Amino acid sequence: MGPWPNDPLGPQARAASEIYWIMFVAAIIVLVIVDGGIIFAGFKFRERPGHTAKQFHGHNFLELVWTVVPTIMVISFSVLSYQKLTFMNDFSNPEMTLNVEGQQWSWLFNYPKEDRFKLLDGSYLIVGEELHIPVNSKVLLQLSSKDVIHSFWVPNIGGKKDAVPGRPTQLWIQADQPGTYKGQCFEFCGTGHADMLITLVVHQKDQYATWIKDAVTTANRQIDPATKKGRETFLSLPCTGCHTVKGTTAVGKVGPELTHVASKKSIAAGLLSPVDEANLTKWIKNPPAVKPGTLMPNLNLSDDQIHDIVQWLLTLKCQPNEAKCP
Ligand code: CUA
Repeated sequence: MGPWPNDPLGPQARAASEIYWIMFVAAIIVLVIVDGGIIFAGFKFRERPGHTAKQFHGHNFLELVWTVVPTIMVISFSVLSYQKLTFMNDFSNPEMTLNVEGQQWSWLFNYPKEDRFKLLDGSYLIVGEELHIPVNSKVLLQLSSKDVIHSFWVPNIGGKKDAVPGRPTQLWIQADQPGTYKGQCFEFCGTGHADMLITLVVHQKDQYATWIKDAVTTANRQIDPATKKGRETFLSLPCTGCHTVKGTTAVGKVGPELTHVASKKSIAAGLLSPVDEANLTKWIKNPPAVKPGTLMPNLNLSDDQIHDIVQWLLTLKCQPNEAKCP
């Protein structure tokens, strides 16, 4: 972001930016000419010793100028705006189409019903908060809302469109360069409005397939019968009283957060490394035996329970590009 109020990094934002600058410069020129004229006339023709101020009425040339010039300006701006809007509202030939759902207070990105996004249970990839797209690709977003009016806006990439309950709207986006772009819900939608963020992650074209694979693999782990059992076991035990796993009912604050436990370098305050099946099993089986004095008790879980929980814990990894990861 430079010193300017906008920094377009995609064709949508660029179209808006171009018309912004044209109108801004024209407005400055008008301001200088009009205010300059008023100040000049005020000084030059003011009442003073040796000069009497006079009233004038009618001046064909001046009146023609200040009628014709603004008319031409307004018509030019209309034509220009129409051209830009036609471009910004051209939803034809997108490379990819996503359904974007706003709800109090997050965004859900439903990836297209294509084989590459298909999950084990036949459903298709849905990711919250983060939108991943390939660079230089026209991506069509079909917006909807579950509750109140929200508005999708990623300033650098441009385009701002409301997500209205019961009335589908659309917007296309495209990014010039790979990177992570911040966006924000732009319609006041309740107390959580300010937290309704959008992270747009733009991938190199050849790396996008890798991201899809990772995301599909992670999503599959969540619905895989083997790990689902572990997850349910974990959430039914006292584990949740001490540990937090984001996205679940486990919100305990006493023990370490486990949201990304499988991406950590070690557990048990560094005593067990790496975080793999063997070490997690050893730890959960009898924590005080590994680390005397630890607050984590031996819950006397069965080998099956431990196995299921460990299989689930091993899926708790950082997503690619995820912020706040160990
Ligand atoms: Cu959603 Cu503001």
